[in-house]
Amino acid sequence: MGSSFFATFLVIFSLLNYNINGKVISQKGCDIFQGKWVYDNSYPLYNTKMCPFIENMFECQENSRPDKDYMKYRWQPRKKLMFVGDSLSLNQWQSLTCLLHVAVPQAKYISKRTGALSNFTFPAYNVSLLFLRDAFLVDIVHERRGRVLRLDSISTSKIWGRMDIMIFDSWHWWLHTGRKQPWDLIVDGNTTTKDMNRMVVYEKALNTWAKWIDSNVNPTKSKVFFQGVSPDHASGQIGAPFNKNCDGQTKLLGNPGGPHPAELVLEKVVEKMVKPVYLLNITTLSQLRIDGHPSVYGNGHQHNYSDCTHWCLAGVPDIWNELFYAAL
Ligand SMILES: *[C@@H]1O[C@H](CO)[C@@H](O)[C@H](O)[C@H]1NC(C)=O
Ligand SMILES: *[C@@H]1O[C@H](CO)[C@@H](O)[C@H](O)[C@H]1NC(C)=O
Ligand SMILES: *[C@@H]1O[C@H](CO)[C@@H](O)[C@H](O)[C@H]1NC(C)=O
Ligand SMILES: *[C@@H]1O[C@H](CO)[C@@H](O)[C@H](O)[C@H]1NC(C)=O
Ligand SMILES: *[C@@H]1O[C@H](CO)[C@@H](O)[C@H](O)[C@H]1NC(C)=O
Repeated sequence: MGSSFFATFLVIFSLLNYNINGKVISQKGCDIFQGKWVYDNSYPLYNTKMCPFIENMFECQENSRPDKDYMKYRWQPRKKLMFVGDSLSLNQWQSLTCLLHVAVPQAKYISKRTGALSNFTFPAYNVSLLFLRDAFLVDIVHERRGRVLRLDSISTSKIWGRMDIMIFDSWHWWLHTGRKQPWDLIVDGNTTTKDMNRMVVYEKALNTWAKWIDSNVNPTKSKVFFQGVSPDHASGQIGAPFNKNCDGQTKLLGNPGGPHPAELVLEKVVEKMVKPVYLLNITTLSQLRIDGHPSVYGNGHQHNYSDCTHWCLAGVPDIWNELFYAAL
């Protein structure tokens, strides 16, 4: 009876104020006060008779109030959260699902993947943490002339546009060339090209995303975040500090190695926006963490491939999520 209230409250509370090893991480819970009243037959939370010391002035049923519906509404806070982006977004989403599972280990969960959409739900709590894999944010369309990267079009907004909380990321795939590049042509308005400076296409795509958010998001209904650029520690990558590889690294760097050029582009785009977007500024602090990547210990431990892009879990993305919840 009424356990759904505590469950919902607990999850939302743990989302905003989760407690790990006795340490309270964030106290800012204003988000739980936005939502709606939902009729719920499992309410009220207790029968008045079970509480013998209620003051007569509060005891409506005992004083013959004839109706009961007023006791049957539950407060439902906002609770659909979606990560949208590439595997660095997956990295952070997965970290968050772990943090919440650990916060409420007895709660049943359903983890389901359908195409590009991953859905991690706590059914008892009616909370879904979603992840949509969408590396470029803008569209890639298949035409007769080939796979076309459309810098001016963003159709996945159909999927994420109405979430209560959205957190985006995009950068790493903009660097891929050759076989890992999933498009053949770039179209921007009336211009078609084979290729362009990747920093320029990145900015154009971000501007298309920003324009969509500015014209469609209602800030009283949705909160928008952008995960700052996650730095690589593979030598030769744009923005990799000191061109040093992550293999065998166990110590933090003493110096982040200067601003990341893609992060500067992202900051420039977000600064110009009209609607409030919170940039989760994790670039500099992550640049110091050359020790935090899977290196050869990812993907089944194949010693011939070193991953200096993603992050081990537990690890750095857990700290991104602490900062994310501090910002909520
Ligand atoms: C996520 O999964 C839950 C439980 O299976 C389901 O009720 C919900 O509709 C799903 N959400 C989306 C967006 O697919
Ligand atoms: C769960 O959330 C969905 C979507 O917000 C809502 O329609 C539904 O009534 C909720 N169910 C419960 C049991 O709270
Ligand atoms: C794109 O082409 C259309 C039709 O040819 C034209 O009307 C429009 O002005 C062009 N837009 C730009 C930005 O050049
Ligand atoms: C992000 O953090 C870095 C390091 O503290 C700082 O230099 C930079 O100005 C910050 N960017 C924004 C947009 O706040
Ligand atoms: C690494 O080795 C595995 C099996 O030994 C092989 O299938 C894979 O293609 C190799 N990967 C690279 C990047 O060489």
